[in-house]
Amino acid sequence: MEFAKKILCIGAGYVGGPTMAVIAAKCPQYKVTVVDINKARINAWNSDALPIYEPGLFEVVKQARGRNLFFSTDIDAAIDEADIIFVSVNTPTKSFGEGAGKAADLQYWELTARNIVKVSRVDKIIIEKSTLPVRTAEAMGRILNANEKGIHFEVLSNPEFLAEGTAIEDLNDPDRVLIGSQLTPEGVKARSQVVEIYANWVPKEKIVTSNVWSAELSKLVANAFLAQRISSINSISALCEKTEADVTEVSRTIGMDSRIGKRFLMSSVGFGGSCFKKDILNLVYICQSYGLTEVADYWESVVRMNEYQKRRFVQTMLKAMFNTVAGKRIALLGFAFKADTGDTRESPAIEIAKQLLEEQARVVISDPKALDNAKIDLAPYVDSDRIEFVEDPYVAAKGAHAIAVMTEWNAYKTLDYKKIFSSMERPAFVFDGRNILNHKELFEIGFNVFPLGQPTLKHF
Ligand code: UDX
Ligand code: ADP
Repeated sequence: MEFAKKILCIGAGYVGGPTMAVIAAKCPQYKVTVVDINKARINAWNSDALPIYEPGLFEVVKQARGRNLFFSTDIDAAIDEADIIFVSVNTPTKSFGEGAGKAADLQYWELTARNIVKVSRVDKIIIEKSTLPVRTAEAMGRILNANEKGIHFEVLSNPEFLAEGTAIEDLNDPDRVLIGSQLTPEGVKARSQVVEIYANWVPKEKIVTSNVWSAELSKLVANAFLAQRISSINSISALCEKTEADVTEVSRTIGMDSRIGKRFLMSSVGFGGSCFKKDILNLVYICQSYGLTEVADYWESVVRMNEYQKRRFVQTMLKAMFNTVAGKRIALLGFAFKADTGDTRESPAIEIAKQLLEEQARVVISDPKALDNAKIDLAPYVDSDRIEFVEDPYVAAKGAHAIAVMTEWNAYKTLDYKKIFSSMERPAFVFDGRNILNHKELFEIGFNVFPLGQPTLKHF
């Protein structure tokens, strides 16, 4: 079959995999190839055990795989045949040199760009799909167009706004699709080709176009605003605990103001995920590099508040449990950074598990999807006899002094807490880092209950 377009995505991760699967499913007229240097990952994409857990993803992959969706490690062949290349390789925070701890590490992106130049024989459209600092497209354009083959690469920015756990829904029915380009005739022409892809299923009014720098910055700012809401409500949760106000009541009331809106006002043990912290620090770094110290400090405080919330949670546990958790068994319910994903990147549970281990607690990690990643995150402790990984929450809680909810998995809301209570040490504690449990009922069973930003319910 002759395909109308050949689309390639370099990087088969949480963004590239689901996005391309949906494009392929919606547009059978296009050939969509996804490549990665990680062979195991590609093998998994070609199997029934996909490398990431995402509700609805398997069905979409199955619909298109082998028809017009292909996963491969032959990067060069795929670059050569592609008309449009999305680049979705990882852009972690730099861990070394200038900007360490804040700036984005662009080495994977640059290597990819250089490889595209090496292999290509005709003009191509290159699309940034990873979150990148503002003006990266410009730098990449320079690297790509410094070739002596006379080939032109038009670099666009098409940031992805999907959230994990709802990736397929978000891709099927996005709030908006953003495509940034240079405002030159070539840039605008390339942009219209990308609009054409999305217009196969996204209403035209939701496809927003802008200049390339606005697109790059919009992605960072969207994540910074979302994270800021969480840090704001988390800061209020600390105040609620001192004043006996209830943060869930505050969230509900302020959220009814249509100017504020009710989403992203759930107080938690802290935000996680691969984007929020990384993108804010990236924004901070950019502001600092332009001498905007006050602006940088303002956004950095969102991350500082998040670190504080995690520390505060452990301090509450310590204080409640008579100032020591040494030798005490503590079951962490959930390790993923949010429900419906196996992803643990920047999960607050990592820091909390580490702090509890430092306090010499015996920590049992439980999660329906994230135990493999948890073992990697806690690799330095895995051989310790003070850490266990158990999928079954009942087994995890058996003999524990405390359980602490780290992830808002639905399954945790309906556990048999009477059974759990009867298998635990006394006094038995619950620390609800997501405010998802029925605190009154738990208190009546006999637990001492420590919600977030709400009065504690204690039997002593
Ligand atoms: C985020 C953005 O939502 C998405 O648009 C962007 O493309 C990538 O980054 P994601 O990291 O997948 O998506 O998850 P998100 O749902 O935003 O949650 C991030 C973190 O905030 C999670 O740890 C979540 O538990 C926490 N959170 C979210 C809260 O603590 N309270 C809330 O009210 C909402
Ligand atoms: P994201 O959440 O942004 O999708 P991931 O880390 O899940 O990030 O995915 C990025 C993917 O990019 C990884 O699977 C990694 O192996 C892949 N990758 C990194 N560098 C290259 C490269 N030069 N060529 C192809 N794939 C790459």
